[in-house]
Amino acid sequence: MTVSTSDRPDTANRNASSNGGENGKAMLRLDGLSKVFTTDEVETHALSGVHLEIRKGEYVAISGPSGCGKSTLLSILGLLDTPTGGAYWLDGVPVQSLGFADRARIRNRQIGFIFQSFNLIGDLTVFENVELPLTYRGMGAGERRRLVGEALERVSMGHRARHLPGQLSGGQQQRVAVARALAGDPLILLADEPTGNLDSTNGDAVMELLQELHKMGSTICMVTHDNRFARHAERTVQLFDGRVVDEQRQR
Ligand SMILES: Nc1ncnc2c1ncn2[C@@H]1O[C@H](COP(=O)(O)OP(=O)(O)OP(=O)(O)O)[C@@H](O)[C@H]1O
Ligand SMILES: [Mg+2]
Repeated sequence: MTVSTSDRPDTANRNASSNGGENGKAMLRLDGLSKVFTTDEVETHALSGVHLEIRKGEYVAISGPSGCGKSTLLSILGLLDTPTGGAYWLDGVPVQSLGFADRARIRNRQIGFIFQSFNLIGDLTVFENVELPLTYRGMGAGERRRLVGEALERVSMGHRARHLPGQLSGGQQQRVAVARALAGDPLILLADEPTGNLDSTNGDAVMELLQELHKMGSTICMVTHDNRFARHAERTVQLFDGRVVDEQRQR
């Protein structure tokens, strides 16, 4: 893992990375990140002092036992939740203290989230599901149509654009969810147990799709408790009890 406390982002490298940058540039950095949940006066330390850096074009898998903080970490990376301590830079911008509206805006443009349970909207067609996040950007209909078409082709689901999610297999639904995540060309794809609700054939197909997207240049961070799948990534980060306890590079 690359840990840095001295190399603070500055305007120069922010400009470099937001202009596209090159593979190898830090895209995301966590520094001493913590998350404490307080319920009924019980404190749960879900994350404690996590340092993590993910570079542009990397494919990182986060693994560890149930309850070790994987989903909490991914929710914070995806700006779905906020940390209680530490710092988070996304593309050189400190995002740990942003308010709800700013987080929603950045999430919509820069994060592609893939959930275990697909999270497609049941009464919208495949096309409309993939289109929805682009609509929130105020993008014109023509451009939306082009981006949705391209994203569906990338996951081989163009022929099902008018279907409803309920008319698709689990594997197909997850491919649509991947298309929704990548249609807006996000900085990073975050996937929380993307194969968790799939049989092994469909699970393997989704893993192959992520591998392909990585080869085409996507930056990916995936949570999985399946070591077989973790090995698809270039680097695995092992969490235990809210801390990074090990890190391995596969190749
Ligand atoms: N909203 C919440 N309120 C209180 N505690 C929470 C909340 N969300 C998570 N936790 C606690 O934080 C810890 C980490 O949870 P998390 O969901 O991140 O684990 P996980 O590694 O994703 O587990 P799994 O592999 O089972 O999905 C757990 O002890 C959990 O009970
Ligand atoms: Mg989880």
